[in-house]
Amino acid sequence: MQSTPQQALLFWYKANGRHDLPWRITSDPYKIYISEIMLQQTQVKTVLERFYFPFLDSFPTLQDLAEAHVDDVLKKWEGLGYYTRARNLHAASRQCDGVLPLNAYDLMQLPGIGRSTAHAVAAFAYREALPIMDANVKRILYRYFRLVDRNEKKLWEYAYTLFDSNHPYEYNQAMMDVGSTLCLPKKPLCEHCPFESTCQGKNSPLLYPAPKMKKVKPVRNRNIVIFENNGKFALYQRQERFLSGLWGFAQYEELNEFKNEYLGHITQHYSHFALEADVYRCKSNDVDEEFEWFSLEEISELSLSRADHKILEFIN
Ligand code: ADE
Repeated sequence: MQSTPQQALLFWYKANGRHDLPWRITSDPYKIYISEIMLQQTQVKTVLERFYFPFLDSFPTLQDLAEAHVDDVLKKWEGLGYYTRARNLHAASRQCDGVLPLNAYDLMQLPGIGRSTAHAVAAFAYREALPIMDANVKRILYRYFRLVDRNEKKLWEYAYTLFDSNHPYEYNQAMMDVGSTLCLPKKPLCEHCPFESTCQGKNSPLLYPAPKMKKVKPVRNRNIVIFENNGKFALYQRQERFLSGLWGFAQYEELNEFKNEYLGHITQHYSHFALEADVYRCKSNDVDEEFEWFSLEEISELSLSRADHKILEFIN
């Protein structure tokens, strides 16, 4: 008898799934939640090798996170990028008083938890019968159902069509593994896929969804000045939305200070623009009042963006 797509997926997952991932061998909703937030915009390898365990060592429970200062949470997030995630984690831990809600609907009321993340935490920690929808899963669904147009609302309906509500945990984990190891963006390995006999798009997977026109990232040109006075350096803590809470050196669109010594150039790519910055040193204490002065040792305690770490290398 032919197996259903869900049976084929389950069978494949048992033999080929990544069963040793630490967030798959725990039922602690907090640890699963942390992993899902980290994995939203960061690859498994990076999360696993550099961030997941140190973060949990510092904040072993949601209660510990709620009691921590947000600056300490940002410091542990340093280098992972998309820092709103860290600030939302911290805000969420306080909002729910250190106890995570027990279902997807209530999880979704917390800052930083969208529908897919809520479904993931609820399916993995509580076995709630809900499908997830990350970038990998979307790609599978677009291909499986031969959908040309990108339409996330419609895609959720398709997600429920293929979903295996008897095995929400295995189904969702398996979909992510199929997406990251077989249903690849450029070179899908259809011949090894558990959906090989049922996927409607398997003969022309690259057509679904229709390829996007590549947007050119805008470039932001800036001048960054390291103000130095008596062995201390001037930094300010960002209040704006972008990189909020992280400390940085002075940035200017136009440079009118003529006593600057040129140190070099840095490039930093962000999701929505590229920063191209010339870096200067200026021996002066004439800075705006939002700046504070720190020794190198004190700077090592602050949370800095990747770009500011590159700048720091010029003085180290
Ligand atoms: N990405 C998001 N959630 C994941 C999980 N549970 N396992 C592997 N990759 C993931």
